[in-house]
Amino acid sequence: MTSTATIRCKDEIGLIRPELYGHFIEHLGSAIYNGIWVGEDSSIPNIGGLRKAAVEYLQALKVPVLRWPGGCFADAYHWRDGIGRKTDRPRRLNLWWDGAVEDNSFGTHEFMELCKLIRARPYLAGNLGSGTPAELHDWVEYCNNPFGTTLADERMANGAPGPFGVRYWGIGNEAWGCGGHLNAEEYCALYSRFATYVPTYGDTKPFLIAVGPESNDLEWTQRFFSSLRTTRRYAAPLHGIAMHFYSWGKSKPTEYTRETLKDQLDRFADLEKAIIDQRSALDTFATDPKIGKVGLIIDEWGTWDVSDEIAEKKFGKFWQQNTMKDAVAAGLALNVFHRQCDKLVMCNLAQTVNVLQALLLTNDDNCLRTPTYYTFLLCLKHRGNTAVNVDHPFPWHLSLSASRSARDIVVTAINPDPDKAVELTCTVDGPGIAGAIGQMLHHDDWNSCNAFDAPDTIVPLPVTVKWREHDFTVELPRFTLATLTIQLSV
Ligand code: AHR
Repeated sequence: MTSTATIRCKDEIGLIRPELYGHFIEHLGSAIYNGIWVGEDSSIPNIGGLRKAAVEYLQALKVPVLRWPGGCFADAYHWRDGIGRKTDRPRRLNLWWDGAVEDNSFGTHEFMELCKLIRARPYLAGNLGSGTPAELHDWVEYCNNPFGTTLADERMANGAPGPFGVRYWGIGNEAWGCGGHLNAEEYCALYSRFATYVPTYGDTKPFLIAVGPESNDLEWTQRFFSSLRTTRRYAAPLHGIAMHFYSWGKSKPTEYTRETLKDQLDRFADLEKAIIDQRSALDTFATDPKIGKVGLIIDEWGTWDVSDEIAEKKFGKFWQQNTMKDAVAAGLALNVFHRQCDKLVMCNLAQTVNVLQALLLTNDDNCLRTPTYYTFLLCLKHRGNTAVNVDHPFPWHLSLSASRSARDIVVTAINPDPDKAVELTCTVDGPGIAGAIGQMLHHDDWNSCNAFDAPDTIVPLPVTVKWREHDFTVELPRFTLATLTIQLSV
């Protein structure tokens, strides 16, 4: 099969903010304990208790932002449990996830250390469901107040002389579900109370994020903002609203059929529609002086397959093998984020280690990079570029996105067809081409994965790009993701 497209270099969509490549890690299954956190006394190589291999892999991915501690866990978490001497920290049952015993050895300081090591901006999800405005206020003060108060002194005594400077604060999580089973008006009233008591300390102006809809639930968004609009005088500060969008699957991770594969991958067209619909719903309230422009965030996204109970029993709740299918799924999502980058401020994949569509899987001292990890690695080159429009007459054959910097164009082309190869020829409507290179992820079997005894089954491979002055051609085998860098003669 052949396909053509035209890259419109001057038809700019917007900046691909690094935050569109954000991540999320929760106290769930083996994401934290035995995942990223092994403890200082572990025989597994670690940096102050953080699994060394995982830290190094995440460093290579240049994680821009990391959300913690949940998820549903956030609305049951009391931050004071996770500070101070480890032996004094309380042990508690994880209310949401299998009643696992949390010894709280991973708390605020350990999370901040992780963020520091991988140079990610921390994003803390506050507890609205079972917490109080005072508790959230104190967490902000503990983290952000440089000096001069008892909470700042306590942080210093716990080993952090300077403030953590946390900018992103979530006010609850999934308030329509595990975060309190609230309706939009009830949540809006609580949001307003909690947000009122989040102060600014020093140079760190908090960016406050409200719970948004599940998938494209426009009713939630409209009712939340309509309710916010009824506030007398002025509304509480609000900077972002977070939608959660999972791509549910109808098969176990390594048992996808042609039908269930197509069904799950089709969800990414719904994701694109959800971004467009939600952004336009937000825009209808943006002219209200009490509200203004609020950023759209996708706080949790990714594939969610049917549970493989044996694997979950062995490795932890929501442990999901990650396959070639997930590499393509991640690429479809990133292509959506590039094409819709003018409507988004942040997107966080669920979740970083050992849970759902993970970047890394661990088992004892093994830590492997999943196919999804490699998609993020290949697509890194788009970050900080300007996304540009692509005319593409056959979008159902291929998923495409393009971005440009001063010197080159980066293109991600995905052939999601499980049977047919595609020869893609792209015309570049702009400066001439001076060279082209590319890498791809490909496996004939979409259920193939990086297993602990074969961790390099799916890794980036070189791909040949034939180029002339104003066009280039690439052969995409069936079920392939490729990222191409087209050097411009400027
Ligand atoms: O990511 C797993 C769970 O999915 C999160 O805890 C929750 O927010 C969502 O429903």
